[in-house]
Formats: sequence, C-alpha cells, structure tokens
Amino acid sequence: MKSMRILLTGASGQVGGEFLRRLRAMPNRIEVLAPARTELDVADPQALRDAVRAAKPDLIIHPAAYTAVVKAESEPELARRINTEAPAVLAEEAARLGAALVHFSTDYVFDGHHDGAYTEDMPTKPLNVYGASKREGELAIAASGAAHWILRTSWVYNLHGNNFMKTAIRLAQQKEAYTIVGDQFGAPTWASTIAAVCCRMLAGADGGKDKVRATSGIYHLTAAGATSWHGYASLIARELMERGVPVKLRGLEDITPVPTSSYPTPPERPLNSRLDCGKLERTFGLSLPQWDEEAVACLQQIIAHYQLDQGRLLPD
Ligand SMILES: NC(=O)c1ccc[n+]([C@@H]2O[C@H](COP(=O)([O-])OP(=O)(O)OC[C@H]3O[C@@H](n4cnc5c(N)ncnc54)[C@H](OP(=O)(O)O)[C@@H]3O)[C@@H](O)[C@H]2O)c1
Repeated sequence: MKSMRILLTGASGQVGGEFLRRLRAMPNRIEVLAPARTELDVADPQALRDAVRAAKPDLIIHPAAYTAVVKAESEPELARRINTEAPAVLAEEAARLGAALVHFSTDYVFDGHHDGAYTEDMPTKPLNVYGASKREGELAIAASGAAHWILRTSWVYNLHGNNFMKTAIRLAQQKEAYTIVGDQFGAPTWASTIAAVCCRMLAGADGGKDKVRATSGIYHLTAAGATSWHGYASLIARELMERGVPVKLRGLEDITPVPTSSYPTPPERPLNSRLDCGKLERTFGLSLPQWDEEAVACLQQIIAHYQLDQGRLLPD
C-alpha cells in the first residue's frame, strides 16, 4: 500500500478490531485514525461529516454498524441512522474528498428463497429491519459516486466479541442436551479472515484508494463452504471434546436440529444465506479458506485465551 491516512470506524467490534490490529502492524507509511464511539457517534450525521472533513482520509474503512438483529425491530430509526445514513454520509464525504470507502454489508439483504449461492447481482429482498437498513446503506453508497467496495459477509465470529461460536461453547459447557436450528444455511466467517482478505485486496502495485476506484462495487466475502447452525454447533462441540475441554454435553447426538418454525419469534431470517464469492476471487486472484478449518483455528484461540481446557467456563 502507498503512504496513506485511513479512518477506521467500529474498532471495538469484531471486524474493526481485526483491521486495527493488522493496520497497526503495517509499515508506518500508514496512519490509522480509529475514534472510539465516545469520540465519534456514527449515529450523528453532522459529527460524522465533521470527523471526515477534519481527518481528510485517503481511505475510510467502515465496519461500525447496528448489528443487533432482534433489537433492530424495536429500534428501526436508530438502526436506519447507523446502517443507512452513516454510510450515506461517509460516501458523500468520500466522493467530495476523492477518498475511497470500504463498507460492510450482510447476507440478510436476501430473503433466502434462492436454491444456490447468491451472486452480487441477484435481486435483494430483506426480511427484517436490520437487513433493510443495511440494503438502504448499500444503495446510498452506490448512488454517491464515491470509489467503494461493499463487502457482504455472513455469520461473523472472532476471539473478541459476541457471536454464535461463543454461544455454542457455552451451551456445550452448561447443558447436557440442547436444540439448535438446523434449516438455516450459511458460511461462518472469521473476522480475522475478513480483515486479512480485505488488506490483500488493498495491496498491490498502485494499492489503496486507486485500487478501490478501479474495482468499485459489491463483493461477497465469506469463508468457503456452508453449514447449518446445527452443523456449526456440532463442529464446535466435537472440537471441544477432542481437545480435552470439559463439557456437560453428553454426546453429539444430544444436539438436536430443529426447524426455524419452532422459534416463532421475530424477526424473520433467511433460510439460505449462502453467498457466492467467485467475483471477489476472480477479481483479486484470491482463494477463500474453508469455514470449518477457520472455525477450528479461532476455537483454538478461544480455548487458550479463556483457559477452557483447564475447566474454566467461557464468561458472558
Ligand atoms: N456479526 C455478524 O454476524 C455479521 C454478519 C453479516 C454482516 N455483518 C456486518 O459486518 C460488519 C462488522 O460487523 P461486526 O460483527 O464486526 O460488528 P460488531 O462486533 O457488532 O461491532 C460493531 C461496531 O460498531 C460500533 N458502533 C455501533 N454503533 C455505533 C455508533 N453509534 N457510533 C460509533 N460506533 C458504533 C460498535 O461500537 P461499540 O463497541 O461501542 O458498541 C462496534 O465497534 C457490519 O457492517 C455488520 O453489519 C456482520
């Protein structure tokens, strides 16, 4: 990457935290500004505009988002301010400055009724407030004229942050038997991989914002392969047992798959979340790693970090 100034949002989150770690390890030609939520509330459009104008970044990396899918149903206005208006403001300011914007979006822009993996050009139809607010954000960026990448990802997990991998660990540690949804399919994706792949996308001969400008658009970025929440929870339980982590779960057969319809609580979620990442792989000459290998690698980090193999419970 050329010498550049990067404005990073959401550095306390799963994806943002991984970007911060990687960008800080890069040569000091890269200046990273990563204001915390207390310094920059992205729900405040004027504050966001002022922050970009003061920072004058070459590149804005924007993983900050309203990600509470259930809570968004009762806070649609806040979800819209954060997931639609904030990216719209960032894109407008990026266009004004000649900067590039890297934004993150979701599998939840689709309704999940398609049989195979979704490509970037397929029609969207979000089923819930979160998905709709993210889709509106995508549209605002596309209309802005700013050089941009919109990277749609799915089922994100990491060592730090709240995610389904940690829920699956707690269930295995605390319950002899449990049920998990078995009819929603997608690709669990490690936040570390998202940041690593994006940094590789940014690297290259002319690097950074020029590269984003030349390849502007939407890209799907998930791990390869797919599973159900049940398959994912089963992999986690099996690995915990094989790695000597004490669990209350009696055996893998005591994790029972159940249909989504047995959890009739809103919001509705897509049954098929699989995203075809071929466009990204072809455009940037990259090959995405398998979801299960990645999940095991992150699980190892969690086991070591929280000393689960010494009988400690994963904290809430
Ligand atoms: N998580 C998933 O399963 C998933 C799936 C598909 C797509 N995505 C997308 O991937 C991106 C990254 O997700 P993630 O999992 O890294 O999210 P995350 O862990 O929930 O982190 C969200 C980040 O946004 C920040 N934030 C929220 N509201 C803010 C506000 N008003 N002002 C400033 N900062 C604010 C949070 O700050 P605090 O720490 O202060 O709250 C946090 O740093 C998002 O665009 C998300 O929509 C995520």
